[in-house]
Parts: sequence; C-alpha cells; structure tokens
Amino acid sequence: MLTAVAALLSLSIAPALAQNYPTKSVTMIVPFAAGGPTDIIARIVNEHMSRVIGQQIIVENVAGAGGTTGIARAAAATPDGYTIMMGHMGTHGAAPALYPNLKYNPATDFAPIGLAAGTPILIVARKTLPAKDLKEFIAWAKAEGEKANHAYAGVGSVSHITGVLLNSVLGTKPTMIPYTGTGPALNDMISGQVDYMTDQIVNVVAQVRGGNIKAYAIALPERSPALPDVPTTKELGLDYQVSAWNAIFAPKGTPPAVVAKLADALDKALDDQKTKDRLLELGGVIPDKAGRTPEALQKLVESELARWTPVLKAAMAAGKK
Ligand code: MLT
Repeated sequence: MLTAVAALLSLSIAPALAQNYPTKSVTMIVPFAAGGPTDIIARIVNEHMSRVIGQQIIVENVAGAGGTTGIARAAAATPDGYTIMMGHMGTHGAAPALYPNLKYNPATDFAPIGLAAGTPILIVARKTLPAKDLKEFIAWAKAEGEKANHAYAGVGSVSHITGVLLNSVLGTKPTMIPYTGTGPALNDMISGQVDYMTDQIVNVVAQVRGGNIKAYAIALPERSPALPDVPTTKELGLDYQVSAWNAIFAPKGTPPAVVAKLADALDKALDDQKTKDRLLELGGVIPDKAGRTPEALQKLVESELARWTPVLKAAMAAGKK
C-alpha cells in the first residue's frame, strides 16, 4: 500500500520539483583531472549556464580509467538534475569498444543535454624533441620505437584513441604513459619528461603559442584560426584527420522539464558572445543551433559508437603485431 502511495506522491511531486528546478547548486562531474580540455570546456560553458539557471554549476573532477570512472558515477546518480556530467567522444563513443565490462551504456543510460564544443586534435611534443617538422617527427618516432614516451589520459580517453590511431597510421609502437588527464600530461611535456601526445586544441593552444611545446600538425583539412601557423596533416600528406567533441549529459530518468532547462542554458551559453569568444580563442568549434539539441547529441552518440568500435579494434590489432 505504502509503495503505491509513494509512487502516486512521486508522480504528483515530480512535475512541481522540475518546474522549480534548480533550488540549489548543481554538480557537474568532469571525468578527468582539473586543467585538461574537458575541464576547460566545462568551466567556460558553466559560467553562463549558471547565470541562466540561477544556481552555481560546480565542477567535481572524478578521474580514472579514461574518464569512465567519473561517467559511471554520474550515470548512477539520482536523476534529479543536481548531478550532470561533461562527457566526450571517448567516454560516450569509444569506451564500449575498450571496456568489455563498462558500467554504463552511452546510448541508453543518459539523458543527453547537448554538445558543448568541437575540439580539433593536434600532434604535440616537448620543445626539446629534435624533429623540426612532421616528416622528421615521423622518422624520429619510427627510429625511437618503444623508447618514445607517448602521453595519454587513460584507456578510452580522446588522447588515447586519437593516439592509438596515429600510431597505427605511422606504424609506431611507443611506450604509452597514462595520466589522469592531459592537463597533468601537458605539465610533464613542458618540463620535457614525456615526448609527445595527441591532444585537444583547447588544452595546448596557449603552450604552442608560447613556444613551450611543439605542434607538428593539426589533424584537420583546413588550418585552425586559433593556430594559423600550424600546418594540417592534409597539407603535409599524412592520412590522419580526427576531431573530438565534448558534451553535457544527465543520468537517464532526469525529468524532461529539467533537461529542457539545462539544454536551454547551454544554448544560451553558446550564444553568449563572451563564452563564444573564450571557446574560439582556444580553438574550440561552436556547435550550430541544430547540433546543440538533446536529440542531436543522442544521434551523435549512436553514430560515434558505430564508428569507433571497428576503428579501434583494427588499430589495437595493428598495435599488437
Ligand atoms: C582526454 O580524453 O584525453 C581528456 O579529455 C583529457 C582531459 O580532459 O584531461
């Protein structure tokens, strides 16, 4: 009897709770260490989103296992709109291909909110690495073999899957050095303790401009306005083009009115000139209106899951030969 009453109560209370949402601060789980690209994008979009919803969105960094630890925790959170997450092409596109016992299904265990930013990928290295350009870097990487140290943010991270893809294209087999995020990895690269990585532009653009690390190429068909002097892999003749994306999700079962409020706040943030300028300054790509909706994000996740599984299985098999 009690359960029926509780169910009736929850049915009658839920819409009222959703209409009044939010009445307290919201936690956004960022599944990597502070200071990396996912964290950077989260904090930039959260600033305006917080103003729109009238409550602070507070980042909680929960690192580990290429981002899947934090996402699994967020997926299991109470679906009341007070725990959301910043996921990306790794956590919601590649992870199932790499984690047979993944604790969540990217296509069914979330209420998508929207795409926050596209992030082109760069091949970057410590500034003391002898190679002057991409051609010399490829020769160096092949000659170094496993003596080369390749940084990444854990299995299934963007830096991992784009790095595995690069190594399979180059036919190189470096020693992979895991970090809790490419923020800490970048610190080690600046101090010369790790050789190279593939990372999202928003994380490395300042260090490339400052000459603290080298950028051999950007994996795009056209150069980025944020780094006009960095050549593309296409103009250098390397068949390696890949970009990542970061997106906001809530746990499955989050009330539709709450999802709508968060999606509206994200949309307004991406229309806010200051937010746009900050993302563009770092080389981020602003999603167009049609690409920001929860429905568009659901379609993106489904297409990315289908895309990355065969790519990674082939690249991982190549790495084992
Ligand atoms: C990754 O997937 O490599 C992460 O985005 C790195 C990070 O955000 O620290």
